[in-house]
Amino acid sequence: MSKKTVRDIDLKDKKVFVRCDFNVPLDENGVITDNRRIVGALPTIKYLLENNCKVILCSHLGRPKGEVKPEFSLKPIAVELSKLLGKEVKLANDVIGESAKELTSNMNNGDVVLLENVRFDAREEKNDPELSKELASMAEIFVNDAFGTAHRAHSSTAGVADYLPAVSGFLIEKELKFLGEALQNPERPFVAILGGKKVSDKIGVINSLLEKVDTLLIGGAMAFTFFKAQGYGVGDSICELDKLDLAKEIMENAKKKGVNLVLPVDTKIGKEFDPNTESKTVKSNEIPDGWQGFDIGAESIKEYCEILKSAKTVIWNGPVGLSEFKQFAAGTDTIAETLANLSDCTTIIGGGDSAAAVERAGLADKMTHISTGGGASLEFLEGKKLPGIECLQDK
Ligand code: 3PG
Repeated sequence: MSKKTVRDIDLKDKKVFVRCDFNVPLDENGVITDNRRIVGALPTIKYLLENNCKVILCSHLGRPKGEVKPEFSLKPIAVELSKLLGKEVKLANDVIGESAKELTSNMNNGDVVLLENVRFDAREEKNDPELSKELASMAEIFVNDAFGTAHRAHSSTAGVADYLPAVSGFLIEKELKFLGEALQNPERPFVAILGGKKVSDKIGVINSLLEKVDTLLIGGAMAFTFFKAQGYGVGDSICELDKLDLAKEIMENAKKKGVNLVLPVDTKIGKEFDPNTESKTVKSNEIPDGWQGFDIGAESIKEYCEILKSAKTVIWNGPVGLSEFKQFAAGTDTIAETLANLSDCTTIIGGGDSAAAVERAGLADKMTHISTGGGASLEFLEGKKLPGIECLQDK
């Protein structure tokens, strides 16, 4: 998995096309609510500027489905980038039209131009070679730093590499270092925490992690499918009834491989999907009808945190409870605090929701690495090849 980076190519004074993932959350007024992905791209952009490059930035935002929709404009990103870089970032009004051509053909060294949302062009998601060629014609080198979109084979994430020398930026380098090292050569004990709604969404990751980890801690609504598979009643909790055999298979597989698969012994349950609903904690095999499980219980929190305290590598994907609701956030928050206090352990947070939970708890700085990829980090953990990485030159 050794790919060339911006350090391995002569880019002095060159015009460089940089694919970033500026797909950041915006509130209803179009204000950026979490700028981590923009901040994550800064080291590469600054490095290119230090090397006197002309920097053309490209990203998608949301899923405008090939149509120009003002609510998906990269305008807020251009403003935020200008602020963070302390210099003007010019925004083209289009992806590859008049405005983009004019701005990118009249650049001086040290200029930064941001193209409009690349998904405004319907050819992007089809990885259309014509669009790839047109994007490539703007520059001399392709730098991919969009880890969050590396699992997409699109024109701007992979196709461009057919027409330009292609290397990674520092963000992708960092993601590959932490996620890759954890999978290939983890310091042990290696513990994974998997949460989220569905077993079916995580099956690839579960199978892949069962080959690597010593302990797998399960949380989130996914746990109820495992409970049901053992014959427990789960009340009105989310449960994939068509995945009970799969859950059994996973448990058997874990046993065969000597992996300690841990399910919550108790569960915090609520009456309704409501932040103020009546709640209580019960044994996981005693969830009554009319109630739903929303968090792991206090005993489970204690057990999970004890296991984490002796870990040397931890990967966490998916909150273990409904952490947006305060009364069901204890599991996720206590795990985040425990990880934050581990001094001799590599802690890797993958996935959008767990990263957001750590951020909300104000503990982001205390983790070894927070991945900027949701779907991409999942696919990476599954062991899949990511097109946005595969297309880059080998070292
Ligand atoms: C993400 O947020 O996961 C990436 O930006 C990819 O977005 P997509 O799922 O719309 O391709």
